[in-house]
Parts: sequence; C-alpha cells; structure tokens
Amino acid sequence: MAGIEIPHFCWHPDLPVDGNCRMCLVEIEKMPKLQIACNTVVSDGMVVRTTSEKAVQAHRTTLEFLLVNHPIDCPVCDQAGECYLQDQYMEHGLHDSKIQPEEKVRKRKVVDLGPIMLDAERCVLCSRCLRFEANVTGTNSFEFVNRGDHMQISTFENRPITHNYAGNLADVCPVGALLSHDFRFKMRVWFLEATDSVCPGCSTGCNIFIDHRDGEAQRLRPRRNVEVNKSWMCDIGRKEYKEIALDTRVTAARVRGTSGWEGASVPTALDTLADRLREAGTASAFLATPQATNEDLFAFRTLAEKVGGMLDFRVGDPQDKVRVLEDSVLLRADRNPNTQGCLDQGLGRTGVKEILAACAAGKVGALVLQGPELLRSAEALDALGRVPFVAVMATREEPLLDRAHLVLPAAMWAEVDGTFTNYQRRVQRIRRAFAAPGSATPRWQMAAGVSTRLGTPLPAATARDVFALLARAVPDYAGLDFKTVGAGGRGLPAGPEQIATQEARA
Ligand code: SF4
Ligand code: SF4
Ligand code: FES
Repeated sequence: MAGIEIPHFCWHPDLPVDGNCRMCLVEIEKMPKLQIACNTVVSDGMVVRTTSEKAVQAHRTTLEFLLVNHPIDCPVCDQAGECYLQDQYMEHGLHDSKIQPEEKVRKRKVVDLGPIMLDAERCVLCSRCLRFEANVTGTNSFEFVNRGDHMQISTFENRPITHNYAGNLADVCPVGALLSHDFRFKMRVWFLEATDSVCPGCSTGCNIFIDHRDGEAQRLRPRRNVEVNKSWMCDIGRKEYKEIALDTRVTAARVRGTSGWEGASVPTALDTLADRLREAGTASAFLATPQATNEDLFAFRTLAEKVGGMLDFRVGDPQDKVRVLEDSVLLRADRNPNTQGCLDQGLGRTGVKEILAACAAGKVGALVLQGPELLRSAEALDALGRVPFVAVMATREEPLLDRAHLVLPAAMWAEVDGTFTNYQRRVQRIRRAFAAPGSATPRWQMAAGVSTRLGTPLPAATARDVFALLARAVPDYAGLDFKTVGAGGRGLPAGPEQIATQEARA
C-alpha cells in the first residue's frame, strides 16, 4: 500500500496469511529478531527497515534455502518470465549455489491433474494452492506429503482437479509447480501484451487481462477487483478467448438475393437494412442482445425509437436459466455479461412473446436482431418464417443464420471498446485488444450507420462518445464517462429489477 516492495512467496492479497516461506523478513526497531512482514500488524510509531543489511541478508539466505532442491529448469518451464523465484533471485538472491545438481532431492514431475500440470520439484511449499482450495472453492484437493526435504505437494491419489476454478491454481502458484494445461508450451509470456477487460461469460463480469500476441488472444487471466472477483475467475470464463479466433467467424456481410446469399460490403448491407426499415416503418421490430455492450444497446435503442418499432431483449424463458449451472463462488446462471445494462436502458419494454405474436400475425415487415439468439429458438421458427425481412448481427457462422435475409458481421467483446453492467449494477470497461477479423464492425457502429441513412445520425464517433450520450439519457448513469468508470468500474445504486433478483436468490 505504501509502494514499498517486500519480497514474498506465500502471502497473497486474497488468501489468509500463512507465514511459511520466511521470504518477507524485515527488521523492526526494538525487536531483537527479524519478523515476517506478512503477519505483522503495523502500529503507530513502528520503525520498519526492509532494506537494512540484516533484512537483505535474510532475503538472500531464504532464497538460497528455497533453491537448494529446486531443479532450475527455467529454460523448459512455462512460468519463466512471470516466476517469483526467477524475479527474486535476480532482485535479491544473486548468490552462487553450493549444491551440485546430482545432490538434489528428486520429486515427481509432469503429474497430470487434468486442467493443471504439477511439477513437485519446482514447488516452494508456500501452501497458496492449499489455502485457495480450503478458502475459495472448499474442495481441499491438495495436501503436503512426507517431511523435511522430501516434503512435496500432492493431490490424494493423484486425483485430477475437477472444480470449475482450476485455472486459479496456476495463477496463485508463484512458481512453475502448477501450470495451466491449456497454456502449456504455447508461448513465452514476454511476447504477450495484456489488455484490461471484463469476462463476457456470465453476469458476474470478472475483471480480466486479455493476453494477446499479433492480434490473437492466447489466454485470459483474472485482474484483481475486490468488489467483483477478487483475484479469481472460473474455467468456463477462461475459455472464452477460444471463441474469438474460430475460423467460423462471420467476417463479411451478405444479403439474400433471388438466387441465394450474395456477398456485400457492410455499407451496402446497411443501405439495404435502412431501405427495409424505411418501408416497414412502425411495422418493424428490434431485438437487442444482453451480449452487447451498453454502447451497442444505446445505438440500437436509438435506432428502434427513430423507426418506431417494437423493442425488447429477452430471449427464452428466464426460468430456464435457473437450471443452468451456477455456483456460490462466481459463476452465475445468466451467461450474459450485460443483462443489467439492458434493464437499465429500459429495453424490456415490449416483450418477446408480443413481438413473436406480431411476427406470426404478419404484422412485422422487418425484424432486426442484434444477436442470433432468436434464430436458435424452436418456438420462434414459425413466427420468423412470416417476416419478409430478418437482419441479424452475428459473430459466428451457424446454419441457423439461413433463417435471416441479411447477415452483418459483428465484432466480438475483445475487439471493441465499451462497457458492460454486471448483476451488481457495476458499470465496467472493456477495451479493444486487437482488430476484428475481415469487415466485422462494432454493433453500435452498424446501428449508428443505419440511423445516419435514415436521416438522424448519432452524434458519436467513438464508443466513448456513445457512452457520453447514454450517460445523458439514462438518469442512473448521469455523470459517468469512461474516465470515471476507470479500471475498477463504478457501482450504481441497486435498481428494482436487481433487488427482485437478489431477493429471489436469497
Ligand atoms: S504448488 Fe505452487 S502454490 Fe502450491 S505449495 Fe507449491 S509453490 Fe505453493
Ligand atoms: S464467473 Fe462469469 S464472469 Fe467470471 S470468469 Fe466465470 S464466466 Fe467469466
Ligand atoms: S510472505 Fe511472509 S512468510 Fe511468506
């Protein structure tokens, strides 16, 4: 907190203190022996020396002790570049080892624990993994076996880790003893660039880093936010990056002509959409998606209001969601990152049932879908068949897109700037990490493009501008901008829908 670095292995901001590694020794005036900083409470007038000769010597000695039996296989270790042992050796150790390689105690290597690989030789016995399992997931998979220099970390009978938070074990392990199977041998970490973002996997909105190289996401890591996810994220969310690089991404627009699909540029496709909306007028309907950012929703809502069509965002029976996997750690049944944003912007006004009834009755001349969810609904099939023009913004190719007449390529969450509002009603920033493939475009830009063609351009050139408009239009967002939302997000007072949800969960 004071910006003074104290070397450590076992201390972690979101785990109980254990004080076992002795790396954080400091000299405290009036105390004869060095004390561990992680378990010493600061008191008024206390004089602490973190870089005195005695403290520095203690750091060096502790490090030498920890490295006695360490295999030093940095050249083939995936932790290299983000390893506390490496970093602290370079910063505080710099001693010559007195141990010959053949004298080292050998322990188990390459133990497959499912999503995690264990190398017991690299372990510094810090117990972070034990404490994570004991205090966060309550699963207690790990134990220390044997004693003395033969002590090592193990799961009971080498059983694999089966909970949904295994990736955090690789994150909490300060060395290369626990490594992610998914990221193993994929990339040296110093090639990666990290962009702050928010996981789109559910309505919790865990804060994350997108680690990427050459325009491709390589992994997601939790970014600490004590108000939302502390230092954790779930394994379902961790895999979200795989969706971005799929070769089935929609990368170009297409319009259905008399002889089937015809490729089109995005501006031409938007011309077509604007023409059809102009013809349909109030006999049009708009269905937003809770996968979209607040900026996307605002531009979409503005377009719907300009045209005068019906508008909603809910797809499917909310009761179904109760049966979807959720847990008491982070993962929520609502797998949309921005349901709260939809509610806050008043998008649930018409009702999907009413929209489908109007479609079935032949009263809808043009239907615009901000996401493909409705196309996947079996109940909507007949109603959609009665609509002469269905436009959909999609990120991924799927056969169901053939139910539409116009497909627009949408950029994904890692390719856009914007905000999501999580279930706590916390507005959080997502940032563009790299360019979208082909002509995929942010959804707000496409909606704004249609508004321009209909004669009412949205006065916004960037997502930041759209958010500023939103903040002027939605009272609870008043005074917010990208800067005030900041890296940690901004909590809003609980709204009625959110209170109802919280009560239902309680
Ligand atoms: S495996 Fe990693 S986190 Fe677990 S005790 Fe060893 S060094 Fe610490
Ligand atoms: S809990 Fe939700 S938001 Fe957090 S990582 Fe998992 S899917 Fe993503
Ligand atoms: S960090 Fe203080 S003893 Fe490990």
